[in-house]
Amino acid sequence: MTEEQAGPRNVDPPEKFASNANVSDPFVYEAADKDYEGFWADRARELHWFKEWDTTLNWSPPEAEWFVGGRTNVAYNCLDHQVEQGRGDKTALVWEGDEPSDSKTYTYSELLAEVQKFANVLKSLGAERGKPVSIYMPMIPELPVAMLACARIGAPHSIVFGAFSASALRDRINDCEATILVTADAAPRGGKATPLKANADEALEDTPSIENVVVVRRTGDDAPLTEGRDHYYDELMKDAEAECPAEEMDSEDLLFILYSSGSTGKPKGIVHTTGGYLTHVNATMKWTFDIKDDDVYWCTADIGWITGHSYLVYGPLSVGATTVQFEGTPAYPASDRWWDVIERNKVTILYTAPTAIRSFMKGGKEDLEKHDLTSLRLLGTVGEPINPRAWEWYHDNVGGGRCPIVDTWWQTETGGHMITPLPGITSTKPGSATRPFPGIDAGLFDEEGNEIEGEGSGNLVIKKPWPGMLRTLYKDPERYRETYWEKYGDVYFVGDGARRDEDGYYWITGRIDDVMNVSGHRISTAEVESALVGHEAVAESAVIGRNDEDKGQAIVAYVILEGDREGSDDLIQELNQQVRKVIGAHARPEEIIFAPDLPKTRSGKIMRRILRGVAEGQQDLGDTSTLADPSVVDSLQASRTNGS
Ligand code: WTA
Repeated sequence: MTEEQAGPRNVDPPEKFASNANVSDPFVYEAADKDYEGFWADRARELHWFKEWDTTLNWSPPEAEWFVGGRTNVAYNCLDHQVEQGRGDKTALVWEGDEPSDSKTYTYSELLAEVQKFANVLKSLGAERGKPVSIYMPMIPELPVAMLACARIGAPHSIVFGAFSASALRDRINDCEATILVTADAAPRGGKATPLKANADEALEDTPSIENVVVVRRTGDDAPLTEGRDHYYDELMKDAEAECPAEEMDSEDLLFILYSSGSTGKPKGIVHTTGGYLTHVNATMKWTFDIKDDDVYWCTADIGWITGHSYLVYGPLSVGATTVQFEGTPAYPASDRWWDVIERNKVTILYTAPTAIRSFMKGGKEDLEKHDLTSLRLLGTVGEPINPRAWEWYHDNVGGGRCPIVDTWWQTETGGHMITPLPGITSTKPGSATRPFPGIDAGLFDEEGNEIEGEGSGNLVIKKPWPGMLRTLYKDPERYRETYWEKYGDVYFVGDGARRDEDGYYWITGRIDDVMNVSGHRISTAEVESALVGHEAVAESAVIGRNDEDKGQAIVAYVILEGDREGSDDLIQELNQQVRKVIGAHARPEEIIFAPDLPKTRSGKIMRRILRGVAEGQQDLGDTSTLADPSVVDSLQASRTNGS
């Protein structure tokens, strides 16, 4: 029996929490179920609209339009609207730098002023409604400023996570044909600095659309500017006009593109629009995170991923919360850094990834015990399934046994939370994301397309449209349809497997496609394979995610070398370097196995199940009779144990 099946205890919301919760009436589920459009329309009414919508939803599968005819602006909601409600002097953003001595705060008025100026800077460089701007930045306040400035003028942003390599950045700029890149000289993390501008310069050698580059001086490191193209942020801001009115955006205007790994080597440009996305993140801040005006909310994700977009910037600011942005790493300058951040800022809500919790668990309780964590009242997790043991540890040690945990299941594509407890209502089961959020209709299908009723396991789907859903893949509507809407017709195909228990609770079992989840980051096997075969010594490669206690999954690459080449430690180094160069350091394989051949079916399809079994050291690899050459299995096992 696995840990998950052992029937862990239910954990009910503590009475004190429940009696104060934003949502405490279980009837909300039923009501939303009866009229999901009405439910979401009520949520949307809590935002500021320049003009109310005429139609809540147009659904012509797979095309959804929410709040049709409505006009709003995301930055206006996150800033001006907050100031109008009296939050001008409230702290909007608490920034904690890599060095503990380095910190800054912005009130809502200050952030609004900075955003208006930068919006004018962007305009002066040719930014306009509908024209994408690429952003490649460290976790500094200028990053949310740049996002909000884009949103203010209606220029969609495309943020590329700072650990991505020059070539990954280049491909993402070229795909959306951005004319402006916002970056910084360097990105300090854990006492070391990544030369962002140097990476950007390498990418910019081959990005014909880029006309202007804005460089924030983060470290003051040497970062030569290209005359006529590159400008320092501070110099442009000095002369920028103070006022920039927010564009009245159509509800369905593009807000941002975020590239995410799919099952081919080419990343998918996931498109989110304005009114529906904001409604979804705003509502989930209130319902899932129970946000209150005096909360100090910390989401530890990098803004380069969807979690940072939705729940570090847009969600929290749209409810007028105080949001913490942390630039550093958990272990710098010492392994109690996070607990220090929580104690000093009196953080009340912490939202993080299971992989981080597991690494703290390994380090033991001593680091926590050095700090007063009693300000915390609610904990969240995201990014991968949390094993019950890590859940319990988080609950007992970080939350002191008094904080509910919201295990939130969602995706870049879904925009916001989809399956999650409501902390004042839901009786949680450690390891389960529990029930779909009100208004969300989830289900399970088998491979043949039959819906599974009641208890069972299958492929997770979403049966009705929801406001935060992706609208398409940028410039690739056909791939959008094929990826999400072909397998089961008019229901959204998630790409995750799940089990539903006797209480209707969902237990996500992981990806069912060729996408790995490494420390909560999505990486496609095909992307890593294509990086590896880019090396002249490699003839073929197959990459799989092996179960890993700390990271969820670890990347294992099987590599077949060209003719007379032989595997060596040096070559392993080179291949690691190759992946780092093509994708980024976070995609480097944990293990590289030089193999004589790959297990393929007679039709030539690689049987990844076998590769996974070998990498996990399983003795029984199941049925191997469909392999074109079953003896491959023995040689693979031998290659692995030889460590060649
Ligand atoms: C996984 C991150 C189990 C899942 C927000 C999903 C989870 C993928 C959970 C999306 C969770 C995310 N429990 N699995 N609470 N949250 N996942 O696009 O496989 O980076 O499909 O979005 O992460 O990853 P993405």
